[in-house]
Amino acid sequence: MTDEPAISFEHVRKVYDARSKDGRAASAVDDLTLEVRQHEVLVLVGPSGCGKSTTLRMANRLVEPTSGRIRLEGEDVTRVDPVKLRRRMGYVIQNVGLFPHRTVAQNVATVPGLLGWDRRRTASRVDELLDLVGLAPERYARRYPHELSGGERQRVGVARALATDPPVLLMDEPFGAVDPVGRQRLQAEFARIQRALGTTVILVTHDIDEAVRMADRVAVLSTGARIEQLAAPLDVVARPASPAVAELVGRGRTARLLALGRLELADVDPVVEGSGTPVVLGTELGEVLHSFVGANQTVQVVDQRGAVVGSATPATVVRALDRVTADHPDETQVTDVHDTAVGTVRS
Ligand SMILES: Nc1ncnc2c1ncn2[C@@H]1O[C@H](COP(=O)(O)OP(=O)(O)OP(=O)(O)O)[C@@H](O)[C@H]1O
Ligand SMILES: [Mg+2]
Repeated sequence: MTDEPAISFEHVRKVYDARSKDGRAASAVDDLTLEVRQHEVLVLVGPSGCGKSTTLRMANRLVEPTSGRIRLEGEDVTRVDPVKLRRRMGYVIQNVGLFPHRTVAQNVATVPGLLGWDRRRTASRVDELLDLVGLAPERYARRYPHELSGGERQRVGVARALATDPPVLLMDEPFGAVDPVGRQRLQAEFARIQRALGTTVILVTHDIDEAVRMADRVAVLSTGARIEQLAAPLDVVARPASPAVAELVGRGRTARLLALGRLELADVDPVVEGSGTPVVLGTELGEVLHSFVGANQTVQVVDQRGAVVGSATPATVVRALDRVTADHPDETQVTDVHDTAVGTVRS
């Protein structure tokens, strides 16, 4: 991981209405300073109209900032030809934005076409990508966008953005129209692809669950793209930095913590007789809790190699929840699931 950010926003401001630059006009983006690290998935989450799409669109110059600077790998984006810029950044558009008079295959082949790839290479890449997003090429390649469901159209949008493995991917509510089950599958599949390719991703959503599931870091925004909190998912859920974040995390916070928190050695009790299947250190707290549903009140805890390190009861899980929500958590106890080599939260 290099130190130079993939993308940096420096005091970026966007006022759409040029007639009201008297200072009283509400800016869509007020004064955004934000660095996107190489290879990370940074999720922007916040209420409708808070400036998420505007922020993305300024990165690839579909919208020009009123003031401030945006750099792509150190280079001021206003100095880069917009067409070349967009080839370096895949873009999945909110509400899809497929070309209506082009087939699915032709849509996916848009950027390869611009780059002058030959037919065979393009055709095999299109098939590969359609398979990847779960649309069998033989069924879907020749259809037109109006012959697809909303969720299928979104998947074509994702495939199109990935066509040339761009180093940076901007995704505006990419999974919004997919049903909940398909959505989780697509999220998991996308996460796998992203890790394999090392793509730097800015993903926009207003779904906090999608945010914490997909992100290395979450930026919670309020009106004017004001950053309420920028932190690892577990930190955002465990320690909301402002009332706006607390409201967003809101109900269901405990369930989210159970999904994000993991069992640590510090949580477990001394070894006593346990029954049933042992749980492994690092297991999601929700899964640990689930092992008590039914008969077991005590289970043994083992490390990755299977050696017994202690035991756990339902109270262990409550203690672990106390730990993850503590004001000053010991950094080393919080495992970053996306980068276990680092082992601490990168925030
Ligand atoms: N082309 C435009 N002209 C004028 N105002 C605009 C334009 N596009 C967006 N806005 C305004 O800028 C603000 C931010 O819009 P933006 O699309 O960035 O919000 P968003 O966070 O993406 O919202 P959503 O979650 O609903 O997609 C809103 O108040 C919106 O009305
Ligand atoms: Mg938007």
